[in-house]
Amino acid sequence: MPPTTHRPARASRLLLAALLASAFVSTPAQTPRARDARRPSRPVSRRDEIERRIDQLLARMTLEEKLGQLQQLDGEANGNFRPEHVEMIRRGLLGSTLNVRGAQRTNELQRVAMNESRLKIPHLFAFDVIHGYRTIFPVPLGEAASFDPGAAERAAEIAAREATAAGVRWTFAPMVDVARDARWGRITEGAGEDPYLGSAFARARVRGFQGADYGAPDRVVACAKHFVAYGAAEAGRDYNTVDISERTLREIYFPPFEAAVEAGVGSFMSAFNDLNGVPASANRFTLSDVLRGEWKFDGVVVSDYTSVEELIKHGVASDGKDAARLALGAGVDVEMVSRLFNQHARALLAEQKITQAQIDEAVRRVLRVKFRLGLFERPYTDESLEAKVLLSPEHRAAARTLAARSFVLLKNDGGTLPLSKNVKSLAVVGALADDQLDMMGSWNGDGRAEDVVTLLSALRQKLPSTRITFARGCDVRCDTDAGFAEAARAARDADATVVVLGEDAGMSGEASSRATLDLPGRQLDLLKAVHATGKPYVVVLMNGRPLTINWAAENSHAILETWFAGTEAGDAIADALFGDANPGGKLPVTFPRAVGQEPLYYNHMNTGRPPDANNKYTSKYLDVLWTPLYPFGYGLSYTTFKLSNLTLSAARVPVNGRLTASVEVENTGARAGDEVVQLYIHRAAGASVTRPVAELKGFERVTLAPGERRRVSFTLTPKELGYYDREMRFSVEPGTFRVTVGTSSVGGLEASFDVVAR
Ligand code: NOJ
Repeated sequence: MPPTTHRPARASRLLLAALLASAFVSTPAQTPRARDARRPSRPVSRRDEIERRIDQLLARMTLEEKLGQLQQLDGEANGNFRPEHVEMIRRGLLGSTLNVRGAQRTNELQRVAMNESRLKIPHLFAFDVIHGYRTIFPVPLGEAASFDPGAAERAAEIAAREATAAGVRWTFAPMVDVARDARWGRITEGAGEDPYLGSAFARARVRGFQGADYGAPDRVVACAKHFVAYGAAEAGRDYNTVDISERTLREIYFPPFEAAVEAGVGSFMSAFNDLNGVPASANRFTLSDVLRGEWKFDGVVVSDYTSVEELIKHGVASDGKDAARLALGAGVDVEMVSRLFNQHARALLAEQKITQAQIDEAVRRVLRVKFRLGLFERPYTDESLEAKVLLSPEHRAAARTLAARSFVLLKNDGGTLPLSKNVKSLAVVGALADDQLDMMGSWNGDGRAEDVVTLLSALRQKLPSTRITFARGCDVRCDTDAGFAEAARAARDADATVVVLGEDAGMSGEASSRATLDLPGRQLDLLKAVHATGKPYVVVLMNGRPLTINWAAENSHAILETWFAGTEAGDAIADALFGDANPGGKLPVTFPRAVGQEPLYYNHMNTGRPPDANNKYTSKYLDVLWTPLYPFGYGLSYTTFKLSNLTLSAARVPVNGRLTASVEVENTGARAGDEVVQLYIHRAAGASVTRPVAELKGFERVTLAPGERRRVSFTLTPKELGYYDREMRFSVEPGTFRVTVGTSSVGGLEASFDVVAR
């Protein structure tokens, strides 16, 4: 939530306190003036006070100073500011920077703003703190695999604490783009393919970064990005065109953004892509009508990097001046890196192509965030904090726990995992097993490779009496089998082998789309070489997106998906491999069998000809099954669970009513473990528009001791049951709904109920 507002209950408490105080304190005779001063006046809320201070400031600002607040420039990759920034800040011409960080450097620049600029408006330091600042947590897709929003909230809270210690008060996160196409490299930065899961993680991350009030010194203002539908890039190619219906926009791509607004997010970023013919950074419908009109967002909108200037290449702006007009007019407040607002606003005003009110409103939004951050009162960072806070043992411990919660056990035939700690000899194969850099994944903040615990070093630490041999086999993108013989020899000579395969960190993230989803290089051949030894082995995957791992899925006994798990990746994976942690994560994205199935997602429509193996003229492929390799929501455990007794609170519910579904979950195995109970609904035939075959509407991760059972409940309200009807009205249509409660998006216990007109 944004800073506190005045609440009536509090006002009456204050009034009561004041009255009591005046009743009991005997005072000498007072002049009328003194009496007035003591009379409780209407308390001014912090919100009102901020708006008043903004008014005062705006009245004193020149046009250049106003435009300065709308300008954001990039620092150097190493965190330094540029000489130009100093001069611009001194003259009031620069409101924020990105990438400038470090307590000393930010303080140095801030002193220029506070001591040398005319109006002493504090500078705001932004940075992409995506999954950790110095202590790196799993990539966001991995965090989402935990199906534990609380874990993501904790990671964001720690990231905020570290970032603020380094002078950063604005993070360009969370990335809440729904991504249904594994080719798109940025799938790694979000919470996967589902709007419901994505909304839960959006809320959690905003809460984690901002806390109850982002004005607290150890919190940052968050940024919901990239608005909007950036993840729907055609063919999964980054920055590509997006053309989708308003229904898909509202039902699939909007919800996590709206959830972020509900959680009080302070800023938004307008995306690079065009959307149904209008680039996102010039889109008045999304930035103004929806974001500010429908959702009542009162924070700041920053353009993505040079996306204002890119309106020219998109073809909607004839030149820089036109681009500035379009972006400002649509609702962009801050221009990142390109400088068109600054260069052209004066002329645009003179030509009456934009209004002074537009500029003032954009400046107001920037100042609002700066006031809410408390920057005017506390512009500087305590320089002693970095040493204490960054990478603290507490943060490392949290990273290790959260990493383990993100792992998904894809296969475990015959209880191959966990491995026994009594193993005499262990082979570790694959370059990723000893790579400190890649473990951090893309967008790794100020993470340092030297801080990262690799799997190899973690295994050596965990198993001091085991003989451990390491063979790289081949690098991630290798094109030679030169190391295969050594790897096979190591496997042959060991009681067990851990084969580590996947992508390097640069293969997902921005501008890292792939047209194939296979293991890169010759890694599959390396796996086959180890397999051919006939000795026991397990596969550990490290990757930022779903991969087509059909051969492993068919031939290997055990596969553990670990994404890019961050600073504590190695320890966490070693914990999972040897049973000190029990994997309980689930896939937040569908794993396809072939790249040609993409985009592949569980909540698709039924079509008029749903796939039928016995009927050619149905919706499928000639050469590959239509089903996923591993479905959304899937993941195993070292123990087993049983669901039973699905109960609905009613068989009929009015359109404005609510219903509770509950189920019993029992740990039927011999180890403690986690299960994620998932509730899906399906609107049966008779809707005014086609509806997905399944929609996630509830989930809960529970930890159960062996033999323990628990009842888990979910509530369905009009928010979960409604959808956009043929006239694009969000409503609950009477009819039958099926409820499926299970442990993945496939299978589970079923029940149904009727929604009736009241
Ligand atoms: C471009 C990326 O799209 C965005 O996610 C990021 O926040 C900005 N660059 C700033 O680094």
